[in-house]
Amino acid sequence: EYQPADGEAPPSPVPAFYAEPKLNMDVIAKTLGDVREALKGVSRKQSMHTLLDGSPWSGRVQYDGWLQQAQTRIRESQAGALYGTMLSQRERLPAYAHRSHILATLLSNRVTVVLGATGCGKTTQIPQLLLDEMILERNEDVRIVCTQPRRISAVSVAERVADERAERIGGFVGYQIRFEKEVTESTRLLYCTIGVLLQQLQSDANLSAYTHVFIDEVHEREMSSDFLMLCLRDILRQRPQLNVVLMSATLDPTIFETYFSEFNPATLQIPGKTNYPIDEHFLEDVLAASNHHIEVLRDSRGNILTEKEDPETPRLTKQEIQARLQCKPHVAQSIFNLESSPFATTNAELVASTVAFIHRTRPPGAMLVFLPGYKEITDVKALLEKDQSMWVLPLYSLLPVPDQKLVFQSPPPNRTKVILSTNLAETSITIDDIVYVIDSGKCRVTEYLTDMHIQALVTALISKANCQQRRGRAGRCQPGEVYRLYTRYNQEAMKDMIEPEMRRTPVEELCLMVKVHKLGLIRPTLTRALDPPELSTVDNAVTLLEGIGALDKDENMTHLGEKLASLPLHPRLGRLILYGHLMGCLDWACIVAAFISYKSPFFAPLGREYEANMAKASLAGLCMSDHITLLKTYATWRSLMGDRRMQNKFCTEHFISQTTMKFAHSLVGDIKAMCTKLGLRDGGVRNDAVFRAVMGIGLWPSVAAKNRKSVSAYLGDSLSRVEIHPGSVNFKIPKEMRSEAMTAWYSYYQIMRTAKTFVYDSTLLEPAMTLLLAPDVKRVCERDGRGVFYEIGNTEQSVVIPSHAEVDVLELRKGIAEL
Ligand code: CDP
Ligand code: MG
Repeated sequence: EYQPADGEAPPSPVPAFYAEPKLNMDVIAKTLGDVREALKGVSRKQSMHTLLDGSPWSGRVQYDGWLQQAQTRIRESQAGALYGTMLSQRERLPAYAHRSHILATLLSNRVTVVLGATGCGKTTQIPQLLLDEMILERNEDVRIVCTQPRRISAVSVAERVADERAERIGGFVGYQIRFEKEVTESTRLLYCTIGVLLQQLQSDANLSAYTHVFIDEVHEREMSSDFLMLCLRDILRQRPQLNVVLMSATLDPTIFETYFSEFNPATLQIPGKTNYPIDEHFLEDVLAASNHHIEVLRDSRGNILTEKEDPETPRLTKQEIQARLQCKPHVAQSIFNLESSPFATTNAELVASTVAFIHRTRPPGAMLVFLPGYKEITDVKALLEKDQSMWVLPLYSLLPVPDQKLVFQSPPPNRTKVILSTNLAETSITIDDIVYVIDSGKCRVTEYLTDMHIQALVTALISKANCQQRRGRAGRCQPGEVYRLYTRYNQEAMKDMIEPEMRRTPVEELCLMVKVHKLGLIRPTLTRALDPPELSTVDNAVTLLEGIGALDKDENMTHLGEKLASLPLHPRLGRLILYGHLMGCLDWACIVAAFISYKSPFFAPLGREYEANMAKASLAGLCMSDHITLLKTYATWRSLMGDRRMQNKFCTEHFISQTTMKFAHSLVGDIKAMCTKLGLRDGGVRNDAVFRAVMGIGLWPSVAAKNRKSVSAYLGDSLSRVEIHPGSVNFKIPKEMRSEAMTAWYSYYQIMRTAKTFVYDSTLLEPAMTLLLAPDVKRVCERDGRGVFYEIGNTEQSVVIPSHAEVDVLELRKGIAEL
């Protein structure tokens, strides 16, 4: 993880090897541009030489005797040697090798789509080549920005490029992510997250600060990158000086070309593979091994039309399959049934037998298995672990980082490394020693269920782009093989790319962005996106934004909306924070918002879920709130700041991820700083009841009602059955609380449909508070001794206010309404 460089010397515009004092090269001016200036007066009699062999400015610099000396000293210096080593690495990259063609294309087109396999040098080389060309060859000012989908890649790529140039970060090359930057006046190539560029766009609507905008990894189709493309197309019309480069993995570029067609985009395909050859096997090959019983029908162009059983080849019987793959009868059965629904489920046993098959019959080598999710990883792991000759490692995003790092290690002697991964290993993590990739062909993605206003986590077919990416994970350092547990026909039927984020998530933030960027009315603006969201999804978002008061009835941004938009959080969390401020406990609201927007620090290792839940319950006590549990946990963790050993012990004993705590801690600081800027302050209120009220109002109308029989929540227009997630402290009602548990009302943030519709995090609300918040409350009856029953709207759920509380809710509501 990136550590900000504390105490590092202030960035200097001077490339490091010029600045290095022991070279004493004060003749050479401070920047590369100045170097050119300084050298103009040098005798023309001297022949052209290179300053550093093969450097970008090689052959361009004339020099005198003094420079020759300097050159030798540069070579001998550490920085010079570093530059040389880096350069020889760079020269091996396809993007560097084809630099003249790449530059010619970039310089003669306003919009260019660059396609190239991962690792070919798109991100690190192409912007850099342009930078050198403009500064050194043309002596023209250039300002390049290159967006990255993830914070970590913006930082690491910028540092890499600065290293390659033997420069200090924050000089010619800089980066900027949400709360960190290494940028100076002299920065000409900036790597940043899309969010940062969108932020700049708010105050510089034409992006006049840049001559070239690169959007990297456009194929990932993140909501923010699609939105940026929408803005850039408008700017290209208004500012003829602007150039746009879209960079992507090798995919069909047509959609991007069409989107920017009015600018006649050029397409650059960077040839050459950085990988070793990879043998491909599809399910039909894997299964029949030799006795292939599926015939593939192709049209004249070789496109696969359909598959059918090959009548010529005798079909394997169930027993034969079982014998050939040495699998269990029911696996053989499912393979036998393959033609009817080859792809219905991920069969853990099929995956496990394929792994075992490779282990038995192929030369030794590490395996990487792509599975849709945690459950499948657990299932396959259980099947494989019996075999002591395999070293089986799970890999998924919620796995604590030290465990994730195991995958980079060499296996113990005489054991084969088998990594069971979600699509985490597809792009974010690169493991060098993988020889075999086994691809289940599926991944877990979120879908947006418009009518219920919730997201669902579903198992879906991957896209062709994913197939290619997964395949490329083998053969990075030696030839490899990919075993695809789907047929050629299945692959042909896959989409080219993953469904764009804009079409599978709620779009509240996107709608706010349209308003912040003053692009006009939300609906017509969004129809101009590359793949516009469904109208009903937009309707839901607008309704929510109106409901929380961010937009008025005419879609104008309210004062509250402006504040919400300036917080780097979902508007619902922004609202939570504003109520935190109003009710005096801003700090607590910031802490909870930080964890919600990042992730929960609690994790339950495979097979130890019960222990983990018990540990969390011990922290929760009787608070009946996941959010208050977080506050307590965070407070304890902070109190142990001075004692690393105790802090680690606390984390280990309570199944808390230290890494998550550290990151969330920095996020809390960032969010608080942001609030201070907005004039929000903490009032020092530290009271659970008040905080429950903040959660209730802040997250309203996300409430769930739990009675003895079931839990329900309003999803969209109807009341739906939901479940409290087993990982929540509210999954079970503590014994002490049971007598009071008539209908308990909880406010929640995260709800998602997986096997069931789960509420992940919840806070028990005070009954009176629920009644004050609800839009429509009826007094039903008063029962002796038990209290006054109220009904909320038409939910058929009642709330009881104990008689001794002496609160007349209806009076109170009237009072508040009159305020
Ligand atoms: O963008 P693309 O995937 O085409 O490649 P890149 O990120 O520009 O990386 C090109 C090469 O630089 C990689 O193959 C790595 O060997 C190297 N690199 C590195 O060593 N460290 C980094 N932080 C980034 C790249
Ligand atoms: Mg890249």
